[in-house]
Amino acid sequence: MTRAFPPAGNGPRVLVLHGPNLGALGRRDPAHYGTFDLDAITARLDALAAELGVAVEGLQSDHEGELVEALLGARAGGVAAVVINPGALAHTSYAVRDAVEACGVPVVEVHLSNVHARERFRHRLAIAPVAAGVVAGLGPASYELGLRAAAGLIARG
Ligand code: DQA
Repeated sequence: MTRAFPPAGNGPRVLVLHGPNLGALGRRDPAHYGTFDLDAITARLDALAAELGVAVEGLQSDHEGELVEALLGARAGGVAAVVINPGALAHTSYAVRDAVEACGVPVVEVHLSNVHARERFRHRLAIAPVAAGVVAGLGPASYELGLRAAAGLIARG
């Protein structure tokens, strides 16, 4: 499944990518991910975008290749920075890692849960070494801090 979240705000564009299973937020494992859904996260990011002077848009995809295509097309499409929650692909995907490395814009990785405090397989982050930074464990605030970081990286050039 794939879902696009329309642009909000004015200014340099930040693309927020949500990976596999994140479309199920709100009903998925609330002990780790809370009860808010992607619409609630998007509403918070839209409000913050206005404060930061950036335009934010989103895409949730359960498909690795779609995330790769979105990353590789970001710069040519006018996107200045990316915030990505890769879901479980954070632990496994060299394809997303390589796309992050190749995409030519700063990428901030975010996780709702503290992956370092969970199962061992979640401690390994395949994409993080090529991301500009990682925010994890703060729930929806991880996304908000990721967007703040992205806006800062854009401003710094
Ligand atoms: C997640 C953490 C991942 O380990 C998990 O597979 C997810 C969500 C998070 O936001 O905490 O799908 O990325």
